[in-house]
Amino acid sequence: MSSTCFPLLFFLSLLFLHPLFSQANIHKTKTLLKSTLLSQPSTNDTIPPTRFFEVTKPIRVPNAKPCSLTILQHDFGYTYGKPPVFANYTFPSDCPYQEFSKIVLEWNATCKGRQFDRIFGVWLSGVELLRSCTAEPRATGIVWSVKKDITRYNSLLLMNKTQTFSVYMGNLVDKTYTGVYHVNITLYFYPFVEKMNRFEEKAEILGSGVGSKADLIIPFSRDLPLKDGLWYEIENATDVKVKEFEIPQNVYRAVLEVYVSFHENDEFWYGNPPNDYIAANNLTNLAGNGPFREVVVSLDGEVVGAVWPFTVVYTGGINPLLWRPISGVGSFDLPTYDIEITPFLGNLLDEKTHKLGFSVTNALNVWYIDANLHLWLDSKSTKTEGKLLQHDIVPLGVSSVSDFKGLNGTFITNTTRFISSTGWVKSSYGTVTTKSIQDLSYSNSMVMAKDGDLQIVHQMIHFNDSIYAMMPASDAKSKKSLKRFLLYLYSDYLDQGNGTSMSVANVTLGFNEKKYIDADARLPSSSLRNLQNGQGVMVVKDNLVVSGVGSTQQTYNYDSSKFCYSRNISSSNYTILYDEVGKTCNNRAKFHFGFALSRWWPFPARRAFLASHVVDPNGN
Ligand SMILES: *[C@@H]1O[C@H](CO)[C@@H](O)[C@H](O)[C@H]1NC(C)=O
Ligand SMILES: *[C@@H]1O[C@H](CO)[C@@H](O)[C@H](O)[C@H]1NC(C)=O
Ligand SMILES: *[C@@H]1O[C@H](CO)[C@@H](O)[C@H](O)[C@H]1NC(C)=O
Ligand SMILES: *[C@@H]1O[C@H](CO)[C@@H](O)[C@H](O)[C@H]1NC(C)=O
Ligand SMILES: *[C@@H]1O[C@H](CO)[C@@H](O)[C@H](O)[C@H]1NC(C)=O
Ligand SMILES: *[C@@H]1O[C@H](CO)[C@@H](O)[C@H](O)[C@H]1NC(C)=O
Ligand SMILES: *[C@@H]1O[C@H](CO)[C@@H](O)[C@H](O)[C@H]1NC(C)=O
Ligand SMILES: *[C@@H]1O[C@H](CO)[C@@H](O)[C@H](O)[C@H]1NC(C)=O
Ligand SMILES: *[C@@H]1O[C@H](CO)[C@@H](O)[C@H](O)[C@H]1NC(C)=O
Ligand SMILES: *[C@@H]1O[C@H](CO)[C@@H](O)[C@H](O)[C@H]1NC(C)=O
Ligand SMILES: *[C@@H]1O[C@H](CO)[C@@H](O)[C@H](O)[C@H]1NC(C)=O
Ligand SMILES: *[C@@H]1O[C@H](CO)[C@@H](O)[C@H](O)[C@H]1NC(C)=O
Repeated sequence: MSSTCFPLLFFLSLLFLHPLFSQANIHKTKTLLKSTLLSQPSTNDTIPPTRFFEVTKPIRVPNAKPCSLTILQHDFGYTYGKPPVFANYTFPSDCPYQEFSKIVLEWNATCKGRQFDRIFGVWLSGVELLRSCTAEPRATGIVWSVKKDITRYNSLLLMNKTQTFSVYMGNLVDKTYTGVYHVNITLYFYPFVEKMNRFEEKAEILGSGVGSKADLIIPFSRDLPLKDGLWYEIENATDVKVKEFEIPQNVYRAVLEVYVSFHENDEFWYGNPPNDYIAANNLTNLAGNGPFREVVVSLDGEVVGAVWPFTVVYTGGINPLLWRPISGVGSFDLPTYDIEITPFLGNLLDEKTHKLGFSVTNALNVWYIDANLHLWLDSKSTKTEGKLLQHDIVPLGVSSVSDFKGLNGTFITNTTRFISSTGWVKSSYGTVTTKSIQDLSYSNSMVMAKDGDLQIVHQMIHFNDSIYAMMPASDAKSKKSLKRFLLYLYSDYLDQGNGTSMSVANVTLGFNEKKYIDADARLPSSSLRNLQNGQGVMVVKDNLVVSGVGSTQQTYNYDSSKFCYSRNISSSNYTILYDEVGKTCNNRAKFHFGFALSRWWPFPARRAFLASHVVDPNGN
């Protein structure tokens, strides 16, 4: 099984069995492909490597020298199908502090030559800490650095024992694909400096706010495998991966954090046409099952939550020139998704073994999924108890329109999902009733024209989560997250004859999130608007980009009561055209949340959508 962002098995067969594009009727593979650059080896060592990066807000760390530990230094050459790389981890004994306000993982890497994008994962004791994709190198070399705030894994990182740290990246090196990834991973432990800061984090009882750290983390991943990553591989729509587990008897809160990435036939799932279109046109080599995917999480066979993932485009996806040097949204640090499990604790606190399951609706191979169960333990009691009061799963609502003639057609797929659960847990904090709601909706409009050579996709996901924690004789605590994932893709394929093709692609990726510390508050406690537009043209022969140009523009705006950050940046052919960074809070940005309904969105504005454009009460 492949562990690349690129469909490796397919890629091998392309290389050694069939020349690319030699078969008729692979229109979709023609329009949405994965490629890398045909750069000649460089003999010039005086040109400095290009620095690639993903636009994101900096991690706020205290003004203090952290303890640091270089946990791994490794050269990832031919690692495909091999075991992960292991290291022994123990908390640095020379570190004078015991408590930390921030813990940061830093991945630094260099590469030179020609290589595809490779997916990789980083785990500690089976708990995944980072899912990411490598940058595609160039002949003169590249360098990149990814920093991730891993403070939420505090209890695991501070354990007083030796643990296994593992990294898997399935790289393939041969005469054509020469890039070896040289990697250093360093951990930084920042002490507390301000008393207030510590109080803020410690005052967290219900774990319903930010900054709360679990006492124990149980991994749902494969035990140190002999090959490939620790993630589970989901290969089709009926494939369910199940793991048995038991929890301690004094848990009062549980949150499942899900890691997910999609590859091979589902790398571009949002552009997969329905099966009736494929069958009617006798297409054999085209990934189908339509454009809707959902990761379903079940507990003892009952659905407890769903993940409708953001459409991460890896660094070789659609047109690799788009992602140089500004990488795609989420590509260097894939988003993870939290599902509140607390209402189900009543069922789990019975000293018995339970089963957690993962599946992907409509999946084609392959999805890499694993998860971490974060548990909060009652230090003043050895036994908590609870009861599930209510559990509503509104079945997946699907409406679709499929209208095609030959290879031309229009397809609309809309889905909705609602999951709500309520349960109480009795601990030394009292009897707390927790209600968790997931309210999700999705629309995808896909147009196929020019006999399948032109594909236009518009997709929007509304991913809303809210959690209420109610205690008798006390105000309810709550939090809410509203996420909007936007995708626009225009992809035109022009056959140049001779095994050479030209691809013209415009892409828009949007990731917006508003978080509320009080679910009923009018104003969010933080808001993120991250929007990327790219335009690319390339000439491709045998999966190698012979020539082309890519341009990307990105606006990133993060506002919160504590900290604001904005960046407005653009690149073309590796050159940064402008780069404006702002750190002052812009109140207007805080209240304007929805994506501007510009020309690319095919549907009339939805009411809920308009309602999210709240007027700034300050009139700014
Ligand atoms: C290497 O690159 C530098 C800077 O671009 C240039 O001045 C030099 O002539 C190049 N040398 C060779 C051998 O190409
Ligand atoms: C971890 O430590 C054990 C015991 O000292 C040793 O046998 C093993 O080789 C170490 N593993 C790595 C990857 O260094
Ligand atoms: C990793 O790269 C970043 C960015 O260049 C640099 O600031 C940092 O010092 C590097 N870390 C190590 C351990 O060299
Ligand atoms: C990794 O660390 C070594 C030793 O400090 C250094 O020589 C090397 O340049 C680093 N590599 C990367 C990719 O940062
Ligand atoms: C760590 O564990 C060792 C052996 O189990 C024990 O001797 C030591 O006191 C522990 N240290 C801390 C800080 O708990
Ligand atoms: C789905 O994948 C599983 C796991 O590889 C396999 O056992 C099963 O046969 C597959 N089902 C279909 C219908 O292909
Ligand atoms: C698909 O194959 C069937 C059976 O071979 C044939 O009758 C039909 O005309 C084909 N359709 C197309 C669009 O090629
Ligand atoms: C599909 O649309 C193209 C124009 O985009 C047209 O030339 C072609 O004839 C159409 N094919 C069919 C089967 O209608
Ligand atoms: C076919 O490929 C050769 C070599 O790559 C090139 O010289 C020629 O112009 C190409 N012909 C067409 C029609 O693209
Ligand atoms: C693609 O982007 C280019 C450059 O911005 C623009 O001129 C063109 O109209 C866009 N095409 C589509 C279909 O979005
Ligand atoms: C990028 O390359 C293309 C084609 O070589 C050229 O037309 C364009 O002006 C270049 N853009 C920049 C910003 O250098
Ligand atoms: C799909 O959703 C869009 C946007 O909400 C709406 O405009 C459209 O009417 C829906 N179509 C169907 C077939 O439900």
